[in-house]
Amino acid sequence: MRRSVLLGTGSALPAKCVTNAELAERVDTTDEWIVERTGIRQRYIAGEGETTASLATEAARKACEAAGVEPCDIDLIVLATATPDHTFPATATQVQKRLGCRGGIAFDVHAVCTGFLYAMGVADSMLKNGLGSRALVIGAETFSRILDWEDRTTCVLFGDGAGAVVLEAREGEQERGVIASKLHADGEHKELLYVDGGPSSTGTVGKLRMKGREVFRHAVVNLAEVLGEVLEEAGVAVEQIDWVVPHQANARILDATARKLGLPAEKVVVTVDRHANTSAASVPLALDTAIRDGRIKQGDLVMLEAMGGGFTWGASLLKL
Ligand code: UT7
Repeated sequence: MRRSVLLGTGSALPAKCVTNAELAERVDTTDEWIVERTGIRQRYIAGEGETTASLATEAARKACEAAGVEPCDIDLIVLATATPDHTFPATATQVQKRLGCRGGIAFDVHAVCTGFLYAMGVADSMLKNGLGSRALVIGAETFSRILDWEDRTTCVLFGDGAGAVVLEAREGEQERGVIASKLHADGEHKELLYVDGGPSSTGTVGKLRMKGREVFRHAVVNLAEVLGEVLEEAGVAVEQIDWVVPHQANARILDATARKLGLPAEKVVVTVDRHANTSAASVPLALDTAIRDGRIKQGDLVMLEAMGGGFTWGASLLKL
């Protein structure tokens, strides 16, 4: 049996941190409203010269260091983003170049906030099927560049950043690695969360539009359902999970999902207060944070989960 084992994680944030109070000087909002409704206290915003590729490369380098592998040992890069540096080529190819590797597989995956889960699923399948031996799976975004900074209902919610993991294919591994994953999509609800532009429709980049309250309702239902599916497939009881690392959209969604599943809040990694919603970067950013601060350790059973535009949603269970 071939398993994809997580060797190391890394993350990167832009230099500039913007607090709720600073935002309140630009749009009609308050620190109290943002904290009460979302749990967000600050976010990082990319400055000049900071892009999805630069943040992704920094996170990837740190993940390689933590994994004890050289970037040239990586033969597969799967990068999840909805905010690529260019319409093409894939940002993954530019990360490959910046890391100094050549010739391996490198491509982007686009599933918005569920992007990292989709990228993990694709990389895991490719490693299991012998299409690579060591993969960098990256979630990286600069959502600040697609926000309507006049729209208080969305611009206070998002931030920029990147997270990365190194996965290695191991023959005969029975303990560690990715145990089970489930991914879903339903294009029916596009209007609830989308960007109003694109190369083939308007010829512009567009701005993010969201009906937050409706997305919230779908998120809690879909996430609880997909978590149940993964637990069932893995034959694991909810009590056996050591940590849940969820997509960081809103502290209230994290609480409601945990309650629905009967998971104690202490087992849920929360970074939305510091990073806000960084879309595809949020799960690997939170995972790296909790590994580096010593909460998540080797041998722990960890559930990753996310839900986002599309809608797309998914979950993945792995033993570190
Ligand atoms: O990552 C992809 C998945 N995305 C999500 O999961 C986001 C899911 N949704 C949410 O997190 C929440 O729905 C929001 C945080 C977006 C909004 O919270 P809510 O409790 O659902 O608020 P609401 O949209 O129902 O708005 C309540 C009120 C409205 O005023 P009225 O109509 O009641 O007078 C809004 O206009 O809050 C107002 N409001 C604000 N007030 C101050 C909306 N945004 C703001 C703001 N500051 N930034």
